[in-house]
Amino acid sequence: MKAAFIRGHGGPSVVEYGDMPEPTAGPGEVLIRVRAASLNRLDLYTRAGQRGSAVPDAEMPRILGGDGAGEVVALGPGVTGLDVGQRVVVNPLLAMDPAPRMLGTHAQGSDAELVAVPAANAVPIPGALDYEQAAALPTVFLPAWAIVVREGRLQPAETAMVLSASSGVGTAAVQVVKGVVGATCIAVTSTPDKVRQALELGADHAINYATEDVAERVKEITGGRGVDLVVDGTGALLFEAAYGSLARGGRYGVCGVTTGVRAQIHLGQLFTKQARLFGVFMGSNAELRQIVEAAGDGRIRSVVHRTRPLAEAAQAHEEMERAEHFGKFVLTVP
Ligand SMILES: NC(=O)c1ccc[n+]([C@@H]2O[C@H](COP(=O)([O-])OP(=O)(O)OC[C@H]3O[C@@H](n4cnc5c(N)ncnc54)[C@H](OP(=O)(O)O)[C@@H]3O)[C@@H](O)[C@H]2O)c1
Repeated sequence: MKAAFIRGHGGPSVVEYGDMPEPTAGPGEVLIRVRAASLNRLDLYTRAGQRGSAVPDAEMPRILGGDGAGEVVALGPGVTGLDVGQRVVVNPLLAMDPAPRMLGTHAQGSDAELVAVPAANAVPIPGALDYEQAAALPTVFLPAWAIVVREGRLQPAETAMVLSASSGVGTAAVQVVKGVVGATCIAVTSTPDKVRQALELGADHAINYATEDVAERVKEITGGRGVDLVVDGTGALLFEAAYGSLARGGRYGVCGVTTGVRAQIHLGQLFTKQARLFGVFMGSNAELRQIVEAAGDGRIRSVVHRTRPLAEAAQAHEEMERAEHFGKFVLTVP
């Protein structure tokens, strides 16, 4: 079968497109004919061997890709509740213990014509959702959902701030804040064009952190009160300004550290504001079902920056690396 894979770590040029052995559905697994896959930051880290995602030599070549959507073509022994021909999207989180295990990093991924995954991770998609839309959902909407809905319990009368709103996770979080909860959303991003796109996506306010003082702008926008929730996939660069902008009782959810892992924390503010700081990693299959339902009825949608054929996976990596995008890169599988 055709696949996008790496034989060793490096820049975008190490991503090859070629033939790899076809997987089969083991016990409890389904085999999926992939129609679309989407890129996430983790795919870039896995390709480069960074941030703890290096693939052992013995497991090379590795087919990249976590997010994928397509139709079930075979059921492994013991699988019930799914049928051959069913349209599904994959939750790439294979296990949380003893450490997170992700499709495409720790197992052969979805940037291929076929992928085998645990049946529980294959979530049926409604007819209203095409494969490209579906494939762009899991890895960005699961942490956004976990921060905004599950852990952050954002309420309609509250205000949330989404950092790096142009990222895959950011575009997802803006929509969960607006389309699922109906709260006020402040998007924080880095260029005038991204500010415009964040407002078009539904954010009520947008701050350009490259030219504006985030903390000062939040004060202006909220009348000095601060925000009730922060969705942070950016890490070090914006942490202090965003953390300092929490209102009393505010919640701060971290799901990514693109700009660095270390930041100063003012512990006094944590208790005087009775704030809560927490981290999330992906989410459950049940949550992906809720996300698919919300996408099916139009409360949320995937923001696709660019679609390319799977054969151009290396170019998609290169483009995503430049960080000029707004939303997701999707690969279509012929
Ligand atoms: N915990 C989880 O479950 C989970 C799941 C998915 C992703 N993540 C993490 O969340 C983060 C976002 O993931 P994603 O797939 O949405 O990423 P992405 O689309 O590649 O994010 C790129 C965006 O990040 C911002 N950025 C700021 N500084 C950057 C820098 N130095 N290099 C590159 N980008 C920079 C830019 O947005 P602005 O211009 O708007 O600032 C850029 O467009 C990543 O760190 C990822 O590992 C975690």
